[in-house]
Amino acid sequence: MDKRPIGIFDSGVGGITVLKEIKNKMPNENIIYIGDTQNFPYGNKSKEEIIKFSIENVNKLLKKDVKIIVIACGTATSQALGVLKEKFDIPIIGIIEPTVKYIKSKNYQKVGVIATEGTIKNGAWERKLKEKIPNIQVINKACPMLATIAEEGKAKSKEGKKVIKEYMKPFKSEKIDKIILGCTHFPIYEQIIRDEFNFEIELINTGKTVSDELEKQLKKLNLENNDKNIGTIDIYLTKKEKQFYTITQNILKS
Ligand code: DGL
Repeated sequence: MDKRPIGIFDSGVGGITVLKEIKNKMPNENIIYIGDTQNFPYGNKSKEEIIKFSIENVNKLLKKDVKIIVIACGTATSQALGVLKEKFDIPIIGIIEPTVKYIKSKNYQKVGVIATEGTIKNGAWERKLKEKIPNIQVINKACPMLATIAEEGKAKSKEGKKVIKEYMKPFKSEKIDKIILGCTHFPIYEQIIRDEFNFEIELINTGKTVSDELEKQLKKLNLENNDKNIGTIDIYLTKKEKQFYTITQNILKS
């Protein structure tokens, strides 16, 4: 039994898609969320910067006495997870490994990955997938504008739809029907992406795979909060953003 909160961070509002899945699965857990809006977007920053921001986020969460940390950000997972695990004693979960586990369990042999520019350039998704599933075919597509459009609350605008249409072209022409949402802002576009296809597609939401893994880790490490009350959610932003709470509510309601 451990009532301390779970710490979650992202560059902005995207990680709320992960928070939502965690909350659905483990409603009694307390959560502290940091949105590093001051340094948003992470997707076009250097590895050194992402590591620096991630270390700052972890230090802030540690000051809040969290028991475990979830990096609810594909860019920070791909570029900083290794360094964070070496530097800090606290258990840390990123979004890539739990998702790779899921893909392996399903025996998928061909998947698409959409993510920020930084994540795709870093190649972490393809590397980790091929480590576990050597013959898997991975079709990568960087979608540099999506996180910013979502952060501005314009995901469902004409602009959002136009950009999605462009980014989905390779998957439509190659008939790829399983796509990893490799950036946590992207579940916000789920319906718009589905509408682009005239065949059924599976959009793999990392929030779901991460919350499965988190639940397992909390059990294994004896860190679960068995309190019957609904847990609290505290959100901290490194820079005030007008849109943030409206977008957060929309994500949590959806
Ligand atoms: N939500 C983030 C990710 O999963 C980052 C988006 C950004 O800051 O560029 O990659």
